[in-house]
Amino acid sequence: MAKIQRTQVGIIGAGPAGLVLSQLLYLQGIESIVLENRSRHYVEERVRAGVLEQGTVDLLTDMGVGERMKREGLVHFGIDLRFKGQGHRIDFHELTGGKGITIYAQAEVVKDLNNARLAAGGQLLFEVDNVSIRAIDTAKPQIRYRKDDADCEVHCDFIAGCDGFHGICRPSIPSGMLTEYERVYPFGWLGILAQVPPSCDELIYAYHDHGFALLSMRTPEISRLYLQCQPDEDISGWSDDKIWHELHTRLAASSGWTLTEGLVLQKGVTGMRSFVVEPMQYGRLYLAGDSAHIVPPTGAKGLNLAVADGQILARGLEEYYSRGNRQMLDHYSEICLRRVWKVQRFSWWMTSMLHRFPDENPFDRRRQLAELDYVTSSQAAARTLAENYVGLPLD
Ligand code: FAD
Ligand code: PHB
Repeated sequence: MAKIQRTQVGIIGAGPAGLVLSQLLYLQGIESIVLENRSRHYVEERVRAGVLEQGTVDLLTDMGVGERMKREGLVHFGIDLRFKGQGHRIDFHELTGGKGITIYAQAEVVKDLNNARLAAGGQLLFEVDNVSIRAIDTAKPQIRYRKDDADCEVHCDFIAGCDGFHGICRPSIPSGMLTEYERVYPFGWLGILAQVPPSCDELIYAYHDHGFALLSMRTPEISRLYLQCQPDEDISGWSDDKIWHELHTRLAASSGWTLTEGLVLQKGVTGMRSFVVEPMQYGRLYLAGDSAHIVPPTGAKGLNLAVADGQILARGLEEYYSRGNRQMLDHYSEICLRRVWKVQRFSWWMTSMLHRFPDENPFDRRRQLAELDYVTSSQAAARTLAENYVGLPLD
């Protein structure tokens, strides 16, 4: 016999979307159970995104999980766009009326949310196996899973599919109900984490003959750097020396700026795709974050979009439980997708402007350089970049 648990909202996945949703529901007095198939250690150490929009920072602060972020996060008010060996600063503060971004690793956000959920006695279960969902088009959806060799069932009012791109929720929606929109890019990013103070106070996005490069950071002691590479690049062909050599070449500036090398702590290759599924809901299942959409990382938006979905879904559920009003839940997908598509556009545009494409011709390259020149010389164009980068309003 399966062990039966009853809750209001069953949440699958303890990434940013699932954890933000669970904590917001808790603050509204709504119960949830979060089921995560990986270990707590794994999700808290996974190296992923690092840029938080102002709205994400404000939300985490309002939720009571912003204390360490405020202390340890690095607030930036601009980025450097580098091409033809010259840096051009985009001044977010001036262009957006004082807004900025905060550098604080996704793994740290996840740690803070896990701590808050567990301190509040929240039900957050790691290392669950064989998660499946059923009866999602009825008023009594269920989640089945195995933990410690026991079969368990969660009976709930709603299921939040926050289980990322490879999760089980999206594929559980009957075929024909969803439309997928996708673009896979013909390149990837080779990323390293290095034990060295960042060589620049702000992020550098570089367009170079050899391909795109990015200098980012995690803390005042740890740098995060990326190189455009083949989508299926064999990382074993990249010694640390070769990576640093290529980073020096692509990030070089005539100003005499230099890149400082350090011990490589971690390296890996990430593929790049744009993906959206419509709608983001079916019956009593609501998809949030990467389970519904993926952006290429050039705009630094994946984590922020996941948090925004969690926030919108929490509002809809609160409306339902406090006032019996299902209108916002019914329009969840519509509300999210309006913003999702704008963020898709921005991420695609940044990606298209800054990368070398295998099928490009000399016209395309001239056009990319003209775009970079325009963005860095027109205040209107720079403002467009800045307002998207710091984050569009929630709705
Ligand atoms: P996730 O963080 O993926 O969380 C989903 C959770 O569900 C995971 O913990 C997973 O273990 C769990 N799960 C999956 N299947 C199941 C199941 N069957 N049962 C139970 N649990 C399940 N974005 C950027 O902006 N900048 C970056 O540099 C960047 N780098 C990235 C690098 C990598 C390798 C990846 C994969 C993504 C990166 N992203 C980056 C994107 C960003 O990290 C994601 O957009 C963000 O994590 C989305 O949050 P989420 O909560 O929707 O999904
Ligand atoms: C990162 O720090 O990992 C990062 C920063 C900016 C991006 C993508 C990734 O656009």
